[in-house]
Amino acid sequence: MTAIELRGVTHRYEGVEMRFDLAVGAGEWLALIGPSGAGKSTLLDLVAGFLRPESGTVRLQGVDRTRDEPATRPISMMFQDNNLFAHLTAEENVAIGIEPRARLGRAARERARSALAEVGLEGFAKRRPSDMSGGERQRVALARVILRERPILLLDEPFAALGPALRAEMLALVASLRTRSPRPPTIVMVTHHPDDARGFADRLAFLEDGHIRLTGPVAELLDRSADSRLRAYLGERAPPREGL
Ligand SMILES: Nc1ncnc2c1ncn2[C@@H]1O[C@H](COP(=O)(O)OP(=O)(O)O)[C@@H](O)[C@H]1O
Ligand SMILES: [Mg+2]
Repeated sequence: MTAIELRGVTHRYEGVEMRFDLAVGAGEWLALIGPSGAGKSTLLDLVAGFLRPESGTVRLQGVDRTRDEPATRPISMMFQDNNLFAHLTAEENVAIGIEPRARLGRAARERARSALAEVGLEGFAKRRPSDMSGGERQRVALARVILRERPILLLDEPFAALGPALRAEMLALVASLRTRSPRPPTIVMVTHHPDDARGFADRLAFLEDGHIRLTGPVAELLDRSADSRLRAYLGERAPPREGL
């Protein structure tokens, strides 16, 4: 099944039109790369419903979701800014992924604690975001994602501010949770690091000027594509030659 299908999806801003056609298979992990301002976040926002397209359709899990509110879509999303509420504890921040705060019951709290344990945050249930490191806060955000069990996960550079070692550790955590899941979520991940794509993604899409220029297997694009714009983005003049 196709988890995400964008057909002729357009978004216009100050006279410039972005247009996306994309299909992501169920359980696939797609990495999005491209220059700053290329439209990577816009693409994710169109999938999540934070932006409504001017034309085209957004189908998720086979259902036309073009007009649906973000909260009703089968999606969880993580951003660089982790969207935690400063006045809530870690446990509450996780549990509100599935229940409104006013109704947080014991069962939801218990499930939140077990999700916190899954991301290595046993004993953090009563801490507030201000008493946690950036990495710990992103683990809380990830625990919320786990609890929501939505089939599609959109990652808009959530670990970009954490530094290389911690970023790799967080992606490895996402990958291990995914392998353990009976129905692995479909992931679309924006990254500026080719190594993130190489290490974790099945497929790569290269965006430029509001369009998807190329898609293909990660290593094929990164190592063998002769596309001059991709090479320029990667900071290379020409494709690496065989045998070098
Ligand atoms: N609603 C909007 N507000 C501000 N800028 C927008 C909006 N819609 C589109 N844009 C434009 O879209 C471009 C791409 O933005 P974005 O999707 O955030 O790029 P990326 O995530 O690839 O860096 C920006 O340069 C901006 O000019
Ligand atoms: Mg962006």
